Amino acid sequence: MTTDESHLQPAGESQLRSLLGDYVLQRLQQETEGKLHQRLFHCLRSAIIEGVIQPKVRLPASRDLAQEIHVSRNTVLTTYEQLQAEGYLEARTGHGTWVSEQLPEAFLNTHIHLDNASGDKIQNSYTLSKRGSNLIEYAAASPHQWGAFVPGAPDVTEFPHHIFSRIQSRLSREPDIDCLIYSNAGGCIELRQALADYLRIARSVQCDADQIIITEGVHQAIDLVSRALSDIGDPVWIEDPAYWGMRNTLRMNGLDLHPMPVDANGIIPNTRFDQAPKLIFVTPSHQYPLGSHLSLERRKQLIHIAQKNNSWIVEDDYDSEFRFSGSPYPSLQGLEQNAPVLYMGTFSKTIYPSLRIGYLVVPKPLFPLLRIAAAELYRGGHLLEQKALAEFISEGHYEAHIRRMRLLYGKRRDFLIDLITRYLGSAFIHEYDQAAGLHLILKLPEFCNDITIATMALERGIKVRPLSQYYMQPTMQRGLLLGFACVNEKDMLMAFGVLLQCLREAGISTLS
Ligand SMILES: Cc1ncc(COP(=O)(O)O)c(C=O)c1O
Repeated sequence: MTTDESHLQPAGESQLRSLLGDYVLQRLQQETEGKLHQRLFHCLRSAIIEGVIQPKVRLPASRDLAQEIHVSRNTVLTTYEQLQAEGYLEARTGHGTWVSEQLPEAFLNTHIHLDNASGDKIQNSYTLSKRGSNLIEYAAASPHQWGAFVPGAPDVTEFPHHIFSRIQSRLSREPDIDCLIYSNAGGCIELRQALADYLRIARSVQCDADQIIITEGVHQAIDLVSRALSDIGDPVWIEDPAYWGMRNTLRMNGLDLHPMPVDANGIIPNTRFDQAPKLIFVTPSHQYPLGSHLSLERRKQLIHIAQKNNSWIVEDDYDSEFRFSGSPYPSLQGLEQNAPVLYMGTFSKTIYPSLRIGYLVVPKPLFPLLRIAAAELYRGGHLLEQKALAEFISEGHYEAHIRRMRLLYGKRRDFLIDLITRYLGSAFIHEYDQAAGLHLILKLPEFCNDITIATMALERGIKVRPLSQYYMQPTMQRGLLLGFACVNEKDMLMAFGVLLQCLREAGISTLS
């Protein structure tokens, strides 16, 4: 029970009655010393002091509680009377018994700490494991996921919720049994089929439905791949800079991260290594966060390295639906027949992040193994949402939504580029920028501290992310990630004004 859940708030009386009954029954099993009414007294008193039963909450009638916990009514009456005598309860004939507003502890100078039910000191310390501490140390998930200029956030208000919810409510009125039990088959077949059709055309991915495992986003796909295909201590290559979510998941799984530099042509694979590792994580369509596109030559080089070393390239194709000029780049997976590539995608950018639906495309021989691994690790669910999504895609709503968002985000991006060029100059737009995705990088001079600027901006309500924090190796690259997709032009203008002020205060001269 979390602390919040354990608070028996002034809920409906019958609910409190049965919740309190369950609680008392559990605590009585731990309170083994003394007579029954003394044990019941200790148990209710702890519940009151610890805030499990809040002040002013009415307790069940003695007869009801006695029945619930299988004791005589006299035992409950004696306990209530003792609690009342000590100031924990108040009672009025005809009105019942409730927890006192002011507990006796409030009148004492010393605070009573009940460390656990029996009053013993808790032996365990609250320190995490090495892996757990590591995860907390590197944690980077922001509490701010919306507004100017959160990077990578789509405009969730633009999604046709009415269409999606119509499909969902129809399906959930008389749901198929298959949608209500654990998924053991890699996710909803209709969605896997719809995705196979979509990915073959939109992303040139070579796949059938029996190669697709539905995951709870790319995060879970990274977790699955790294746990199922590598062992603790194994090296992996990742881009530097890279998505912190990827780094943290790999670290948590005990892998040894080898950062590979990135240039205008994407990752620079280290050919000095005799051996490449089992897993190589890349964002070939739109390097995260710098924005470069992996050149054809590098793609071939990477595939060659992977083939030679029996490695898997793990392709994170997180936002490639949004390319605002030129034709879309095909996936790396689709470049060659049987390329050693595991392909990951997500609906977090195209629909909304909290949907938590993503996908992993694997070669046919790996599918049955990874499907079982996924079922063992995560016990897949959310099959009704997946089925609704399949219908949403096959009825054409998904593509229509992407087309509409591409136009909208393209306009917002142009607006931001124009502001940057006008007020700072085009040198402030990162040279790897590819007119794609949901964010761009405002490049800052090396003397700047991008972390300080991001903090200053956040204090004024503007959310930007410092580029230097995406690097593992020491770097002189300074910049800010600016998301443009979830901000309309009017808000963007105001937010940009505030950001400019922060930049000026940090010693950057502006054009006007
Ligand atoms: C590079 C990259 N990959 C994947 C994701 C999305 O992960 P998920 O599908 O778990 O939401 C993000 C989110 O920002 C990202 O930046």
